[in-house]
Amino acid sequence: KLADLKGLKSGRFRLGVITTAKYFAPEILGAFCEQFPGIDVSLKVTNRTRIIERMDANDDDLYIFGEPGGAGLDVEATYLAPNPLIVLARSDHPLARETGITMERLAQERFLLREPGSGIRDSVVRRFAERGLRPNVRMELGSNEAIKHAIIAGLGISALSLHTLTLDGGAGRLVMLDVEGFPIERTWYLVHPKSRELSTIAKAFLAFSVDREPEIRASLDRTYETLRNPPAPQL
Ligand code: PGA
Repeated sequence: KLADLKGLKSGRFRLGVITTAKYFAPEILGAFCEQFPGIDVSLKVTNRTRIIERMDANDDDLYIFGEPGGAGLDVEATYLAPNPLIVLARSDHPLARETGITMERLAQERFLLREPGSGIRDSVVRRFAERGLRPNVRMELGSNEAIKHAIIAGLGISALSLHTLTLDGGAGRLVMLDVEGFPIERTWYLVHPKSRELSTIAKAFLAFSVDREPEIRASLDRTYETLRNPPAPQL
C-alpha cells in the first residue's frame, strides 16, 4: 500500500521504457518524486529490442513496453495504458481529405520506417504483411521525432504512436489519415522478470503508475480531439 510507504525516504529507482513511453513517463516520475523526494530516479529510453536486452541484463528495476509475452523471458506484466499507432501525413497530402484509405493504397506511398529493433516498425510491417503487402520504404529513421520532422519536410508518411503528439498535437502540420486496419491498438505494460523480486520503491512506482491510467487516457483523447479539429496553421 502506498500509504505505508510515506516513510520511504531514500533509495534508487531505475526505469527503462520504450520510445513512445518517454512522452508520458517523465510526468509519472515527476509526480512520484514529488511524493517521495528522497528517491534517486533514473529513466532510460530506447527501442523495444534494447529494452528487452536491458531487462535480460537486469539493468533497471522496472520496464514499460508492449507485447511482454514476446520478450522471450518469463515476466510479470501489469496493464498500464493504450498505445495506439496512427498513420500520419503532412496536412497538404492528397490522402488527407480521403476516408477509408486501403492498405493497398497506403503501400503505394513513400513510407518512413523506424530502425530495426523498434516495436513500432515490427508492428507496422506485420500489419502490411497480413494483407500480403510491404511498405514502400523511402527512409529508415532512428527516432519518432525525426520521423515527424521528415513527414513535415515532405519525405513521406509514417505510422507513429498517438503519444508522440500529446504535447503539440502536430501543431496543425500533421494529420491523421483514415486508413483501414488503423489505429493499431498497442498497449503499454509495466514489466519485470518473474525471477526478480521488485524492490519496495519499484512496487510503489508500479501502483502509482497504474493509478495514472485515466490521466494517460485523457491525454490521448485530447490528442485525438486536436487531430480532428486542428488549430489554424501558424504563418
Ligand atoms: P519502439 O517501441 O521505440 O521500439 O518502436 C515503441 C512501441 O513499441 O510502442
